[in-house]
Amino acid sequence: MPSSNTSSNLNPEQAEQEIEQLCQILNRYQYEYHVLSRPSVSDREYDRLFDRLLQMENDFPQAHRPDSPTQRVGSDLTQELPEVPHTIPVLSLDKAYSAEDLRSWIAKTSKNAGQSLSFVVEEKIDGASIVLYYEQGLLARAVTRGNGLVGNDITANIKTIRAVPLRLTQSVTVAVRGEIFLPRSLFERINAELEIPYANPRNLAAGTLRRVKSAEVAAVPLDILVYEGYFSSSPETHLEVLEALFALGFKINPHTAFYSDRRDLETLRERHPAWTFGKFSDIPTFLERARKNRRARDYEIDGLVFKVDELAVREALGFTGHHPRWAIAFKFEAPQAESVVENIEVQVGRTGRITPVARIKPVLLSGSTIANATLHNQDYVDLLELAIGDRVSVSKRGDVIPAVERVVEKNELGNTTWRTPETCPSCGTPLTRHGAHQFCENPKCLDQIRGRIRFFAGRNQMDIDNLGPETLDVLIERDIIRDVEDLYTFDPQVLLDLPGFGEKKVQLIREGLQKSKRQGYRNVLVSLGIPEIGQKVAELLVEGGYRDIDTLLEAAEKKDPALFTGIHGIGEKTAQTLIEELSRPEVRRRIEGLRKSGLHFSEEAPARQVILPQTFAGQTWCVTGSFENFKPRESAMEEVKRRGGRVTSGVTSKTTHLLAGPGAGSKLDKARALGAQIVEEADFLKLLASP
Ligand code: IVH
Repeated sequence: MPSSNTSSNLNPEQAEQEIEQLCQILNRYQYEYHVLSRPSVSDREYDRLFDRLLQMENDFPQAHRPDSPTQRVGSDLTQELPEVPHTIPVLSLDKAYSAEDLRSWIAKTSKNAGQSLSFVVEEKIDGASIVLYYEQGLLARAVTRGNGLVGNDITANIKTIRAVPLRLTQSVTVAVRGEIFLPRSLFERINAELEIPYANPRNLAAGTLRRVKSAEVAAVPLDILVYEGYFSSSPETHLEVLEALFALGFKINPHTAFYSDRRDLETLRERHPAWTFGKFSDIPTFLERARKNRRARDYEIDGLVFKVDELAVREALGFTGHHPRWAIAFKFEAPQAESVVENIEVQVGRTGRITPVARIKPVLLSGSTIANATLHNQDYVDLLELAIGDRVSVSKRGDVIPAVERVVEKNELGNTTWRTPETCPSCGTPLTRHGAHQFCENPKCLDQIRGRIRFFAGRNQMDIDNLGPETLDVLIERDIIRDVEDLYTFDPQVLLDLPGFGEKKVQLIREGLQKSKRQGYRNVLVSLGIPEIGQKVAELLVEGGYRDIDTLLEAAEKKDPALFTGIHGIGEKTAQTLIEELSRPEVRRRIEGLRKSGLHFSEEAPARQVILPQTFAGQTWCVTGSFENFKPRESAMEEVKRRGGRVTSGVTSKTTHLLAGPGAGSKLDKARALGAQIVEEADFLKLLASP
């Protein structure tokens, strides 16, 4: 047993022995806790032994073991996730969407096999697929699915998952497939703390597994269930493979079922009391029950996997290009919109930010045809392991922006995960990475200029009537305007020389430009397109005392973030960005030009506001959609606040009222589901008027 000697009293041999014992016992405790869910030791005792092991490993680094539980805490060092080949074929599954599809698949498979078969039925867990390679009982490599032939080596990250054995109970060489998942009960909590939240537990798990610091993976309570083992000498049935995996120390799903018209189910039931057993005629009832029960699990399941139990038959049936003929996924839901990624292009935004966009074969989704879907950034492409040619499912996030949710079928072209080009597709400047995104930092980049001008003139900014994106593009292409400040100095008359522009149209453009000059300071500030200065920050700055551009520019010149963080609601990051951006010569030049053209760069301090009766006290409002009387809709939020109400950007269980205008999307559904009161503009006006 581990002694309480200080390690300095030990000779290397004794140390090695004690380290081995500590590893063994701690690994057993972890196994009992994380695999069996049957802890046999107090947290305190566990921690005591763990600390002892840490100290011993520190004092005797040469005695460090590859199965040491201390590796589970991960490392802060940055790692690469190199591509490595798989030594087993990593295929996916054919699908059935109805009991009838499944019945005919069973009939066809039995006929092809020439015998009556037995089927093991497993839950199809919606997580991140992983292949664990063990050599002589030790975890040697953990590799993502990738394109099925090569994946990324994420061993250090996988080692942090407590339920993944670092050493098996026997010294075997085996490849094991499993699914890494994040328990549903933890998803919301963890996601809420992330800078960029994920759409679902699967993407959060997959994203976490690609972190470059394994210590950050260790902080997320990921779990695993394994479902396939590739042994050098296999047992005869899949059921025995699962038993062998369990005996080696893996976590196997207890919600497994077995259907057969030929095996003696009673003796099998004794071996697996928790499983479900039945004859083929019982399958339809089982499917219905499983569909109903899926919410009872603390992980997401999107179906059931039916697998031929007899391994010799599996061998005889073989594979098609991407799936085995001996297994099928019974899916609970009909496919969402699915399509093929025909190409991936990069867009350069007005701030220079690079966004990969999937060009997909057009597909109909809730009433509209989708041909493009955002991929956010390289990290998102990596977590999806997306390649050109892959079949994907797409959704409309927040009901508007189409997004690629997942890969449903890898391409058969051998394409590997797509990579962002090294240089800007618009101007050729080498890209630089800041945080999760890549940027083109050339202020003269044409795509950026185009984006900046479009944004400036756009509906929620300067709102320049009659000057839409097409006209702007013409002006930019002809070199008539080179940046936003040129909008007010060019002579619209020149457009008369171009096809499609007549006197009337040119006059309308003039009027649109003239009218836009009346926009208030806050809108002008937002229109400049300076990162971090959106409606909210502009409002905070103005109300925080920066009522004209000179005061703001002077503050930025002092390079003291406290001048901005002193305003409640403005954080360190925003302050730093303001200092940087407002000091840029091209930003200053732009401001000067616009000022000369007569745009508003200051705002009068308001007369003291009347204090209103606090009729909204205790209420939490959320505002969505657009309104006749509240433009921008923030002004509606202001009214709520003036009457003592709270305003949040999202609908939560705390939301008491949702002010909904035309164009309200998923927030409306969510508010309804949560029982919040839905208020339309007309009723809102009445509420404001009532004392
Ligand atoms: S069997 C050749 N069993 O579903 C064996 N897959 O569409 C193929 N999955 O990539 C896999 N639970 O990530 C199998 N019990 C289960 C599964 C399962 C989840 C995932 C796996 C695979 C995908 C297939």
